[in-house]
Amino acid sequence: MRHVFVEVLVLISLVILELSYAFAPISSYQWVVSYSQRFILGGNKQVIVINDMFPGPILNATANDIIVVNIFNNLPEPFLMTWNGLQLRKNSWQDGVRGTNCPILPGTNWTYRFQVKDQIGSYFYFPTLLLQKAAGGYGAIRIYPPELVPVPFPKPDEEYDILIGDWFYLDHTVMRASLDAGHSLPNPDGILFNGRGPEETFFAFEPGKTYRLRISNVGLKTCLNFRIQDHDMLLVETEGTYVQKRVYSSLDIHVGQSYSILVTAKTDPVGIYRSYYIFATARFTDSYLGGIALIRYPGSPLDPVGQGPLAPALQDFGSSVEQALSIRMDLNVGAARSNPQGSYHYGRINVTRTIILHNDVMLSSGKLRYTINGVSFVYPETPLKLVDHFQLNDTIIPGMFPVYPSNKTPTLGTSVVDIHYKDFIHIVFQNPLFGLESYHIDGYNFFVVGYGFGAWSESKKAGYNLVDAVSRSTVQVYPYSWTAILIAMDNQGMWNVRSQKAEQWYLGQELYMRVKGEGEEDPSTIPVRDENPIPGNVIRCGKVR
Ligand SMILES: *[C@@H]1O[C@H](CO)[C@@H](O)[C@H](O)[C@H]1NC(C)=O
Ligand SMILES: *[C@@H]1O[C@H](CO)[C@@H](O)[C@H](O)[C@H]1NC(C)=O
Ligand SMILES: *[C@@H]1O[C@H](CO)[C@@H](O)[C@H](O)[C@H]1NC(C)=O
Ligand SMILES: *[C@@H]1O[C@H](CO)[C@@H](O)[C@H](O)[C@H]1NC(C)=O
Repeated sequence: MRHVFVEVLVLISLVILELSYAFAPISSYQWVVSYSQRFILGGNKQVIVINDMFPGPILNATANDIIVVNIFNNLPEPFLMTWNGLQLRKNSWQDGVRGTNCPILPGTNWTYRFQVKDQIGSYFYFPTLLLQKAAGGYGAIRIYPPELVPVPFPKPDEEYDILIGDWFYLDHTVMRASLDAGHSLPNPDGILFNGRGPEETFFAFEPGKTYRLRISNVGLKTCLNFRIQDHDMLLVETEGTYVQKRVYSSLDIHVGQSYSILVTAKTDPVGIYRSYYIFATARFTDSYLGGIALIRYPGSPLDPVGQGPLAPALQDFGSSVEQALSIRMDLNVGAARSNPQGSYHYGRINVTRTIILHNDVMLSSGKLRYTINGVSFVYPETPLKLVDHFQLNDTIIPGMFPVYPSNKTPTLGTSVVDIHYKDFIHIVFQNPLFGLESYHIDGYNFFVVGYGFGAWSESKKAGYNLVDAVSRSTVQVYPYSWTAILIAMDNQGMWNVRSQKAEQWYLGQELYMRVKGEGEEDPSTIPVRDENPIPGNVIRCGKVR
């Protein structure tokens, strides 16, 4: 009897799920991707534009909406787009990385279609193939909460999207050739604000109004320190998580990270206003490199006065770690759902597995490569998601990838980690190198429970934040340091884990997690496969052509 009851309940909830999909509003886009010559930082460069725009158009939707993006590839190169930070529930088919999709070939189009489930926040999209991100092709994503879900701050009067990132004069094809030859990328030539050079981008402020600035670091390798002259920055959101509100005078934004801040415009009793600087300066580099945008008030003279806030010392890691630890989840509010975030006590869930991911460098035939646990990722001719779907058994070798560092000679390989659906996993990113790291996991947010200097060991767990750690999708790992995360594996699919730094990613510092249910062997164990079916318009290539 009870069995039947449960089945009926399951059936009803399935019907409700289906209905919520069937009636979800659709945000529809037609994007034409092409090259365009643009004059940037005093030089001409071939830039990737979307509908002739650089950065591309804003992608905005409300949580639970369906997003449909029909992309026409007018580049002479294959193309794929990823939605950095969107969880694409049960739908890694739409992820737009090389392990999940065959490329959209030149002169053809392909339609992405996915639902944004239970997620709000600020993100960005970017091209994933062939180092095309170095030529642009990126844009901002905003996901609004549903009407009835409370937001833990008054509605801002206006919102601005701010995409900051390092920029290189070199054409992306030249930069790519240099990586292919086993060389590092050069130092960047400048920092852009929304695709423009110093003092070319401005944001109009009206006295007394409050603005939400959605800021993402869309660059290839440079951590940027963001600050505004004479205005407080109230941090409110980090990659979809509302955080405990705190005022910062400067904010480190690592490659691939996104933040929302609230800024209140000044009011002057006699109505005389000046303009103000916004800075994004390189952090943890040898030399100064900065981008500048402006805030302008009605009638304010073009040029700001004064210097603006000072940047933290270039190599001051201590203050950066301190800031990272101060960014915490607001336990009193829900994000996309009306249940409070704090009702989910991640710190009380038993960890089912620990994985240690240790990055390093190697030489392969004399060329620079980057590794995780001694394996530098190489792509098979067929995307892993298709390999898995069509059961091409010779490509993914279960257990090939060591989930702990080993002393074996580094190799090239196609690293896929099999993960049980509903596991609760502890991952430690261990960075033994001098360079700063930034890691991203597609399809997931995770709790950042600890940062530490040196080698990680079991005893470090005692210092973890098991109460209000921030939940996000991109996290930094400091030089000679580790970062620990906890992640609930509740999203089936083939998901990319990567260095967000373009050079490291391009040269092999990545892997895929294959998150699967138990299969059909024992239907009583609920977690059977519940991914979306293969899309009707799937592109075929490689062995499944
Ligand atoms: C997206 O932005 C456009 C233009 O600003 C606006 O008209 C539209 O209502 C927004 N859509 C959603 C779902 O917020
Ligand atoms: C390509 O665009 C056409 C016209 O908009 C559309 O009908 C078709 O479904 C698109 N093709 C794919 C594979 O998405
Ligand atoms: C977690 O593990 C402990 C010790 O093994 C066990 O007593 C407890 O029941 C587990 N909790 C859950 C929620 O599984
Ligand atoms: C791969 O292995 C599965 C399970 O062992 C089998 O059912 C399937 O036919 C194999 N596929 C190929 C292409 O050999």
